[in-house]
Amino acid sequence: MYGGIRLFTGTSTPELAGGIAEYLNLPLCERDIIRFPNDNIFVKLHASVRGQDCFVIQTTSIPVHYNLMELLILIQTLRLDSAARITAVIPYLCYMRSDKKDQPRVPITARLVCDMIEAAGADRYMTLDLHSPQIQGFFSIPGDVLYAYHVLIDDMMELKKEMKDPVMVSPDLGFAKKARNYATTLNLPLSFIEKRRPSNDPTSQALTLIGDVDGRDCIILDEEISTGTTMATAVNVIKEHGAREITMFFVHPVLSPNAAEELVKLPVKQFVTTDTIPIPQEKKDIFGDRLKIISVASLLGEVIRRANQGRSVGEMFNE
Ligand code: R5P
Repeated sequence: MYGGIRLFTGTSTPELAGGIAEYLNLPLCERDIIRFPNDNIFVKLHASVRGQDCFVIQTTSIPVHYNLMELLILIQTLRLDSAARITAVIPYLCYMRSDKKDQPRVPITARLVCDMIEAAGADRYMTLDLHSPQIQGFFSIPGDVLYAYHVLIDDMMELKKEMKDPVMVSPDLGFAKKARNYATTLNLPLSFIEKRRPSNDPTSQALTLIGDVDGRDCIILDEEISTGTTMATAVNVIKEHGAREITMFFVHPVLSPNAAEELVKLPVKQFVTTDTIPIPQEKKDIFGDRLKIISVASLLGEVIRRANQGRSVGEMFNE
């Protein structure tokens, strides 16, 4: 349908991009990305992409605005060089939490971000674990929204074998539906915490634990950790209710400043996450051997292959 796969990457996630390239046994295409003294970004491709099927791998984590702009400029560069098709591969999509007007006089920034990606020239997008499924509707181009479930579930299966009276815990109601999918596959009961954010500052307040964690080993799971407040509050609540050993899973390791320092103080045996966002070495050192990172490279690589071949992605997951 299209020409061969051409993999491009910005500067935000070199290791994951390398893993995807390795999975596909393809090189990352050469390009220059220069940040001028005035903070403007310049991109130049080393070879023509005319008629090719181009994939731009760029996560939009901190520094969010730089990484987003790099993604947009890369897409526009490919568009202007007559690529046949451009897919924005965005392992972590920024501004996902701004997905509705939940108070007067506020923006819906996730919509703005999706509009910008389309305006730059993307024909398709690919991402993982959106904050809410409705964000798919902010794009009018087709896309593949994937789930880290497919790479995390095996690890949870193994973990479950060693756990005593295991239970799955969702740290808030927003994540409860997804947590239910994990719990169903693992055949575990689900507990969840009703959480409310009283203001726009990152503090959160856990109100009620629904379910039973007393004397049980817990898997607590969320789609992202930013400040760590949600998880810390949830861990404290389940500990107060008698939880035994706790293992924490999270898909997107946003890990804002001080989050790692705060998380390691928690009574958590292991922290398991993915590489949708690279974790700097100094933060890895804070976690030490309590941190485990599971790569999404083969998941993204296989979906890229199928997108290029015009094959079903759903059949990968027996859907
Ligand atoms: C929010 O609803 C998400 O599911 C996460 O709970 C949230 O993004 C975590 O943020 P923080 O780590 O700052 O509490």
